[in-house]
Amino acid sequence: MTLLRNVFILFTIPVIISISLSSCNSIKFLDDDVDHILKETHDHHNMNIEREFGYDFQAYPSNYFNTILEDNNNLQISRFHRFKNLEENDDEEEAKVTTINVDNFGAKGDGSTDDTNAFQKAWKDACSSSTIVNFVVSQNKKYLLKPIKFSGPCKSSITMQIYGTLLASVDTSDYSKDSRHWLIIDSVQNLVVGGAGVINGNGKIWWQNSCKINKSLPCKHAPTALTFYNCTNLKVKDLKIEDAQQMHLAFERCSSVVVSSLVVSAPESSPNTDGIHITHTQNIQVSDSTIGTGDDCISIVSGSQKVIATGITCGPGHGISIGSLGAGNSEAHVSDITVDGAKFSRTANGLRIKTYQGGSGSASNIKFQNVVMNDVKNPIIIDQYYCDQVSPCKEQDSAVQVKNVIYQNIKGTSAPKEAINFNCSKNFPCQGILLENVKLLGENGETPNANWNNIENLTCHNVSPECPK
Ligand SMILES: *[C@@H]1O[C@H](CO)[C@@H](O)[C@H](O)[C@H]1NC(C)=O
Ligand SMILES: *[C@@H]1O[C@H](CO)[C@@H](O)[C@H](O)[C@H]1NC(C)=O
Ligand SMILES: *[C@@H]1O[C@H](CO)[C@@H](O)[C@H](O)[C@H]1NC(C)=O
Ligand SMILES: *[C@@H]1O[C@H](CO)[C@@H](O)[C@H](O)[C@H]1NC(C)=O
Repeated sequence: MTLLRNVFILFTIPVIISISLSSCNSIKFLDDDVDHILKETHDHHNMNIEREFGYDFQAYPSNYFNTILEDNNNLQISRFHRFKNLEENDDEEEAKVTTINVDNFGAKGDGSTDDTNAFQKAWKDACSSSTIVNFVVSQNKKYLLKPIKFSGPCKSSITMQIYGTLLASVDTSDYSKDSRHWLIIDSVQNLVVGGAGVINGNGKIWWQNSCKINKSLPCKHAPTALTFYNCTNLKVKDLKIEDAQQMHLAFERCSSVVVSSLVVSAPESSPNTDGIHITHTQNIQVSDSTIGTGDDCISIVSGSQKVIATGITCGPGHGISIGSLGAGNSEAHVSDITVDGAKFSRTANGLRIKTYQGGSGSASNIKFQNVVMNDVKNPIIIDQYYCDQVSPCKEQDSAVQVKNVIYQNIKGTSAPKEAINFNCSKNFPCQGILLENVKLLGENGETPNANWNNIENLTCHNVSPECPK
């Protein structure tokens, strides 16, 4: 406790000082910006704390960490734990980390032998280990895998180091029990997945059999390559995820998630291959990732709150989407979403909010800032008449309420049609749209069109194409 107090005193004071400094010399900041600065300052100091803990805590028994970890679902604290795990070189500590390599469970990694059983056995040992686990997938090997569920809760925290390639089975009958998932990580806490390896969904066969590609085939779901379900304190970083059967990466009912340095890729023509899908998930940060697929780079749907995406490079694909929301007359709630720093190249959309007619609930407190568009068809779009089905959607009265959406510092080039398209609901107009420093041009420097349907409380500062008078 003394230690925690010391750390608190050490780091709170500079935090307070730097916050007051930032607010002094940048009066123009809105409240949200101050939050942002606060967060950054906070993160910065956490890094220092981690470092401090890393060195100082060598003097403390390792069960000290386990105690705080168990008492607290706090991501920061589990990070200290993680720090020890990954970077501790002390011999005594090393003995407390169990390395589990799938090769020792019979995995061949030759790209043609089915390694599913070996992975399952290795995971069983990893999850029941009473010491910290380093779960290793070797480099320069390809492990062919059928669908696998890596289930928790596990006894200790686990780091999955994927150095090699995980390759999905292309026999569609392997997915007959659950056609929606290939790899699932279910109910695991304090997990890190990284290692600079590759997760390859081998999706071609699924794309060919999609009703979007072959109109004579019935519409069926294909598997998501990697799903995290009901996970807390999760870190996913330094991975390449490619050619998913359908979506690449999904976070479902998770909380406290940090995602960074991913490369997600699939051909532009591959159907429904969203990069990162976020559903019913709170406190998730996605940063410094490059995503180019046949569908949304990031899709954020119902039940998601406190989502921050920074440093996203998107294209090809359909852009960053909030929604679709309200399909099948459903109630949807999405709030506190920030996209800060993104680059879109030749995508169908940039920043999109899409809702079906007939839904209810709300999408609120959404902020898009510091975004560059390069030849994007619909850079800024709110479509409350979204309809992604074979038969046309019928007119309905209710809608998901879109409220408090801010667009700041958005620039670049657009197709000539609507660079800004607010097609808000007639019965539930968008409320509180603010645009500031938005400049979108056609490819030849001309001013593109804009559409401003059904907005209440529209505020514009320095916007082109111009807002209605
Ligand atoms: C979610 O995960 C926790 C362990 O982290 C587990 O106790 C709980 O039963 C899981 N809930 C569901 C719905 O799977
Ligand atoms: C579309 O699916 C039908 C029915 O399975 C099949 O006969 C046809 O060859 C497919 N077309 C293409 C272009 O793959
Ligand atoms: C707005 O939505 C309506 C209904 O779907 C559609 O007919 C119209 O073309 C849309 N307007 C624009 C500018 O996209
Ligand atoms: C108008 O919109 C702005 C920006 O979204 C919001 O902050 C403000 O509260 C809204 N005002 C009213 C009266 O709704």
